[in-house]
Amino acid sequence: MPTVNIRDKVFEPYLTAAAIQEQVHRIAAAINHDYAGKRPLFISILNGSFIFAADLFKAVTIDAEICFIKLASYKGTKSTGQVITAIGLDTDIHQRHVIILEDIVDTGKTLHEFLPQLHHQQPASLELAVLLHKPSATQFPIGIKYLGFSIPDKFVLGYGLDFDGLGRNIPEIYRLKEE
Ligand code: XMP
Ligand code: MG
Repeated sequence: MPTVNIRDKVFEPYLTAAAIQEQVHRIAAAINHDYAGKRPLFISILNGSFIFAADLFKAVTIDAEICFIKLASYKGTKSTGQVITAIGLDTDIHQRHVIILEDIVDTGKTLHEFLPQLHHQQPASLELAVLLHKPSATQFPIGIKYLGFSIPDKFVLGYGLDFDGLGRNIPEIYRLKEE
């Protein structure tokens, strides 16, 4: 895996496709075990989680449903980040066993703002399945039930994650190279 250049940035290989698939399948196996007979509803948060969601969902062997929402974290000139719902939830989650699928938890702000909206609809249960977590960057702690990798606070791309719109189609995960 050679380095990847996008604009003026250089990214170096970090997590192999095989390592990612191993974690995705481990999470799916845990969900298959924990939710047998419960028909969970996965909610995949676009855009970043679409590849993680697809691979995970293919490895889920119990009865399960999936739907999609799109959240955009808007950061204005002031550092009060705002989370905007670009595509909302069209599925009734009342009394459902809900599993949120997210590519990465960084500051935690996106999920910290969004989860109360879901709790308000009184799901039977609500858990998070997250591929990547940057614990040292997290300012809004949220409980992640199913986690792929804990990673340092460095920008990553690939496997659905982008830099300036590019890199989502790379099957591995790369991280920003130190200058
Ligand atoms: P937080 O947890 O800070 O995350 O609300 C907000 C969103 O920011 C994106 N994000 C990243 N995207 N590489 C990316 O390509 C990264 O290292 C990274 N860190 C955060 C991601 O969309 C997340 O949902
Ligand atoms: Mg995201």
